[in-house]
Order: sequence, then C-alpha cells, then structure tokens
Amino acid sequence: MHVHAHPNQVRAWYKQTLETGAADSIFRDDWFGRARFGSAQGVTHMDSTEFSEDKVRAIISRHVACEGALLPILHEVQATFGCVPPESVAVIAQGLNLSKAEVQGVVSFYHDFRPVPAGRLHVRICRAEACQAMGGRALGERVLRHLGISWGETTADGTITVSPVYCIGLCSVAPAAQFNDIQVGRLDVESVISELERLT
Ligand code: FES
Repeated sequence: MHVHAHPNQVRAWYKQTLETGAADSIFRDDWFGRARFGSAQGVTHMDSTEFSEDKVRAIISRHVACEGALLPILHEVQATFGCVPPESVAVIAQGLNLSKAEVQGVVSFYHDFRPVPAGRLHVRICRAEACQAMGGRALGERVLRHLGISWGETTADGTITVSPVYCIGLCSVAPAAQFNDIQVGRLDVESVISELERLT
C-alpha cells in the first residue's frame, strides 16, 4: 500500500494500527514474504518466535527441489520466526549442501533479514539519495535520537525497530519511509517525532 501522506494520514494510520491492535496482524502477515512469494507458495504467517529445527527442515523441504532455493527459504524462515535465527543457518546450509559461510553471506547481504525479531512497529526510513537530499537524513537522525537506538536496533521495550532502506520507489515524494507494510511519502519530521512521542 502506498500512501503519499499528509501528516494527518500518518497519524490516522498509527491510530488505526497501534490503538486497535491491527499492527499485530500486519506484522504477522509479513508483507515482504507475502509480496514476493505469496501464500500459495507455502509462505506461512509468523506463528512463533521460538526457534524450531523441525520447522526449518520443513521449510527447506518445500523449496529444496527449486532452483535458487536459498532466498525463498530465508524469506519463509523469517516469515515463520520473525527473523532468521542464527541457529537456522547451519540447518539451511546442511539442507542445501552449502557452507555456513555461504548462507550467512546471503543473510548478511540483504538488510531485510534480521537475526532477532523486529518490534511491533518496524519503521524503515529511506536512506537513498533522493530522500537524503529532501530531509531523510534529518528524519533518520531525529527518530534514532528520540528513541535512543541506532540503525537496525529495537527500543528496550520491544515496541519499535528502526531500519534503513535504500529506495522504496517513492523518490518523487521524498522523504519516504515504511511503517510495517505502509509506505509513506512527504514525511514531516516533527509530525513523525510527535507521533513517536505518543508511543514511547
Ligand atoms: S530515494 Fe527514497 S524512495 Fe527512492
């Protein structure tokens, strides 16, 4: 969903998702895995954050016969556990007859793969050029300073994670960010900060 937002729309979305609990279902749906592979191909919703080797092996078995199985497996692992648990790397490597370094290299290359689950609200702020030039740099710095975290980290209460992204296709309405699965352009720093203040 793209939202070229007036700040009031950002506010309305926060209200809808965080005060009604809808953010939980958005997070469980895992927009990234769903968008890329679709539920018809076996991507499950996040039903547990607890690592299970059997679940990882079941995921591998669904993809192992396909060419380029590693990425679909990693996406489904993240959709299942909310992250790619470090313990899963060895299981995947064994299942695909790869080295652990090869699997870990792919996990590290893609910013969206996380070693621990993100917070209930995952804020991805665009750090690519167009957004940086239009206030994205200031937005990122202010949000991180306000929350007392660094890029990729989650607040101590587990509520909010802030990650960098590098272009989400909203360059013409920069600065842009994504709040769980909602993409928002023309962001206003003060409005975002004031909403975060209400949440923390
Ligand atoms: S540069 Fe930020 S959305 Fe493209």
